[in-house]
Amino acid sequence: MTVTQDRTAEDLQALPSRPSAPFRTEAFRKSRQDIVGPDTVEAPFPIFLSGAVQRGLGRGGKDLGCPTANLPDESITPMSSVCKPGVYFGYAQVYGLSDEEGKVHPMVMSLGWNPFYKNERLTAEIHIMHNFKADFYGQDMQAVVLGYIRPELDYTSREALVEDINTDKRVALRSLSREAYKKFGVDPNPSDDTTGDKVLL
Ligand SMILES: Cc1cc2nc3c(=O)[nH]c(=O)nc-3n(C[C@H](O)[C@H](O)[C@H](O)COP(=O)(O)O)c2cc1C
Repeated sequence: MTVTQDRTAEDLQALPSRPSAPFRTEAFRKSRQDIVGPDTVEAPFPIFLSGAVQRGLGRGGKDLGCPTANLPDESITPMSSVCKPGVYFGYAQVYGLSDEEGKVHPMVMSLGWNPFYKNERLTAEIHIMHNFKADFYGQDMQAVVLGYIRPELDYTSREALVEDINTDKRVALRSLSREAYKKFGVDPNPSDDTTGDKVLL
């Protein structure tokens, strides 16, 4: 089955079977840019998501060296109803951790069916770019999604997927370093002039 890349994840979820994704090509690898998207945060972003961290299938950490925190199905809707499957960037924060670990950290997010692992269900998996000392399943997580990096792809090797995820992380950090994005890492509601502790929501 072929699908157009512009259908939202929610539209695709309504189909009788898992959507297919194109394989990653050498041309795609070479074409990747260091910074993605406009210099200002544009609609539909920012998208705010929150929920208790779910246990995934555990392959992100073990196979890919990239642990991910999954959002519960009901928390995905604000994003899946307006975004296509793919890789996105922004910031995330986990509550109930130490001061340092509980800060707002940059994140990359995969929204889709993980075609490399042939998942049957749509998932939203967030990799927070911080070296956490322990798992934090069940803790509340809040995230703000600020931009799109690339489509979800299929891979013929784990190494190629890992290479792309490492590029995604670099692209996310560079893209977030622009003024209009940076401020969400300090105060994710920059238009809101309340004072006090800066938290994500
Ligand atoms: C930034 C990022 C990008 C990803 N891109 C893809 C992708 O293009 N294709 C894919 O099949 N999986 C992709 N993945 C998802 C991994 O396959 C996923 O994290 C893996 O299925 C582990 O999930 P688990 O820990 O629930 O087992 C990506 C994950 C992250 C964090």
